[in-house]
Formats: sequence, C-alpha cells, structure tokens
Amino acid sequence: MTASIIDGKMLSAQIRAEIALETADFTAKTGVTPCLAAVLVGDDPGSQVYVRNKQKACEKAGITSQLHTPSAETSTEELLALIDRLNRDPAVHGVLVQLPLPEQIDERQVLEAVDPMKDVDAFHPENVGRLVQGRPRFLPCTPHGILQMLARNDIPTAGANVVVVGRSDIVGKPMAVLLMQRGGGGDATVTVCHSRTRDLAEVTRSADILIVAIGRPRFITAEMVKPGAVVIDVGMNRTPDGLAGDVDFQGVQQVAGRITPVPGGVGPMTVTMLLHNTLTAARLQTS
Ligand code: GUN
Repeated sequence: MTASIIDGKMLSAQIRAEIALETADFTAKTGVTPCLAAVLVGDDPGSQVYVRNKQKACEKAGITSQLHTPSAETSTEELLALIDRLNRDPAVHGVLVQLPLPEQIDERQVLEAVDPMKDVDAFHPENVGRLVQGRPRFLPCTPHGILQMLARNDIPTAGANVVVVGRSDIVGKPMAVLLMQRGGGGDATVTVCHSRTRDLAEVTRSADILIVAIGRPRFITAEMVKPGAVVIDVGMNRTPDGLAGDVDFQGVQQVAGRITPVPGGVGPMTVTMLLHNTLTAARLQTS
C-alpha cells in the first residue's frame, strides 16, 4: 500500500481564502484592519524565512503587518520595552515573538510580557491555562493546523489512539491537550512519547494517528508505523541534502494510510492558523 498525501498547501490556500473573506467583511463593517506585529530578534536565516512567509500570508489575507528586528545582542529589558510599546498600540492586534531567542534573553519573561489578548501564538501562561481548562481564547497555531487537517480530511479523532512524539511547549504538549479535550476534534486516547520513552517503536506502532514533532530528521521509520496509520510530520530539519521532516517519508509512505509531506504539509497550516488568530484578536479588541 502507498499512503495518500494530506496536502497542507492546498488546504491552506482554501482556508486562507475563507479568512480573507472574513477579514474583508470585518474591515468593511468596523473600519478596522487587523494588524500583526512580528518581532524577529537577530539574523537567523531560518527565522527570517518563517517571519517573511507569515508577513506575506497576512498581506494576501488583508491583514497588515509590522516587522520589528532588534539585534542579536539586544537585552531582555530592551525586548520587554518593545513588547510594552506594541501592547499599548491600539493599531496592533497581534504580537508574535519569533522563537528561538538568543541565549541572553529570558524567553519565559518575554512570552509572559505579551498582552494575552494579543497573544496570537497562544504561548502566554494565561492562554495555555485557558486551553488546558477547555475554554481557549486562541488555539496554538501548529496544533490547531493539525486538527484542521484531520477534520477537513474526514479523519476522526474520537476514540482513536493518537501518539504524539515530542513534548515541546509549542507543539507536543498543546497537541496532546487539544486531542484529549471532550468534544469535536478531541475525544482521542492520547499517548505522549519523548526521549526517555521505553520501547518507543512499540508505542508508535499502536497509533491510529501518529504526530511527530521532535526535530530529528527522518527519525520515524517504516517499522515504527502501524499499517494504514495516519502520519503527521511536524519536522522542519535543515540537512546537508535539503529540508527533511521527522519522518522517513520514502519508507513510511509504503506502510501508512495517509501522510503529510515536508514541505507542503503542516508548515503552511501553522501560518494559516496565525492569520485566523490575528483576525480573532482584532475582533476581541474591536467593540
Ligand atoms: N518557532 C517555531 N515555531 C514557532 C511558532 O509557532 N511561533 C513562533 N513565534 N516561533 C516559532
């Protein structure tokens, strides 16, 4: 069997068109144009590409964007002062601090400084807490994008055995929380694996849906996947031979039922959900 491809690029285009319509309607009714302020510290080429993609996607959806680029040597205090300015600016609805931050920066303090109403990444503890309690304000972009991919490809999660490989604050943890919530898009039986998991392959082979976000190129191989499983690859690894996911696509494609490619899978969905959150933020701030 060869897995069919879950096309994140095509689905993104569809959802972005929906968001563009909603944004145009919102702006026509309120006179407000949603605005995302992106903060990119330093000059990491990968982060530059990601932020540029986010800005371009905003523009196409009728959302304006600002780019703030403190140097790699900036201090936590300087960054906090910038975030405070953006928090107070009524023209800015969403504030995004691109990660990772340079070592000297207190990341936790910075993410906690973002106004929770403008926290379009949903990284602020208040928004994480709300998510865990099942009353979210914003859904984190990558896990939300994955839920949309499953739902819009008619892949049910209710009662499914979902294995999440990776326990990061950005993907693994919130993904597991969303999948185990009561109701639509959730109701899954969730297992979270990480570097200390015993018999990892045995666990991953139990997955009806396998979601991989560990940042190791081609880590998941064919013998770790149950025949017919849905495999979602969150990995974006730069390797000498180009961009690679966390899943050995060539091998796993022979075993899985459905699989996301890298690139063109989860990546574009993450950006799409950021647009969704920026529109939501503008709505929340417009009475
Ligand atoms: N770095 C990797 N993923 C993300 C993300 O979703 N948001 C931000 N701000 N930085 C990231």
